[in-house]
Amino acid sequence: MLKTLIFAHRGASGTHPENTMTAFQAALDDGADGIELDVQLTKDRVPVIIHDETVNRTTDGQGWVKDYTYEELKKLDAGGWFHPAFHGAAIPTLEAVLEWLAPTSLLLNIELKNGIVRYPGIEEIVLKLIKKYDVKNRVIISSFNHYSLVEVHRLDPDVETAVLFMEGLYEPWEYAKALGANGLHCFLPVAVPELLAGAAKAMMPVRPFTVNEDQHIRALINGCDAIITDWPEKAVIIRKQCT
Ligand code: G3P
Ligand code: MG
Repeated sequence: MLKTLIFAHRGASGTHPENTMTAFQAALDDGADGIELDVQLTKDRVPVIIHDETVNRTTDGQGWVKDYTYEELKKLDAGGWFHPAFHGAAIPTLEAVLEWLAPTSLLLNIELKNGIVRYPGIEEIVLKLIKKYDVKNRVIISSFNHYSLVEVHRLDPDVETAVLFMEGLYEPWEYAKALGANGLHCFLPVAVPELLAGAAKAMMPVRPFTVNEDQHIRALINGCDAIITDWPEKAVIIRKQCT
């Protein structure tokens, strides 16, 4: 087994406001190998980084992401809800993150959030940006919307994709292969030994989320390809102790 990689979930979201540039920079500073982020589209079809379909929880605004233009959305404060020290942090565009990430060696897991609100064409928009910043070999696109993964694969079979799922599926690597996906991003409780062993045998990478507790990090370090965690700093320390 290769070294288990550490992806910072929504950036270093344990210590910083999720899905903001400050959370991504913190992940890099913490020694994470990659970041995970969530992408949606504004009313004028700008890909932006935010987890929920509404801005209510993580900004000082109200309403659906899809109903904001980017000019309107960028005025919202996406940091103050987490801690006053982060007041003024903005919702980043995917393009801003790619521009920042390109000169680093970070891996990037782009989660397409198009299950609850559908964003037709989001796959093509995201792929164009990946190409523009020449980071294709460092990107994994994941989604709970598996039709979207098939569309990514149709548009560019060279881009790595991963199936997101919450359930205890039987031999999910067979399912992933059937839709042309290259990895399994499963909810932590379903990352059971049978899944880890079977996927390893099938050469299908497994990257469980969200691996935050010390004992879970210890159990999975050296046992899967990557973990997705809110606490990259802690995970990096535990990984050093485990090697
Ligand atoms: O991509 C892993 C994880 O982010 C999936 O769930 O809801 O945190 O986006 P969620
Ligand atoms: Mg996510």
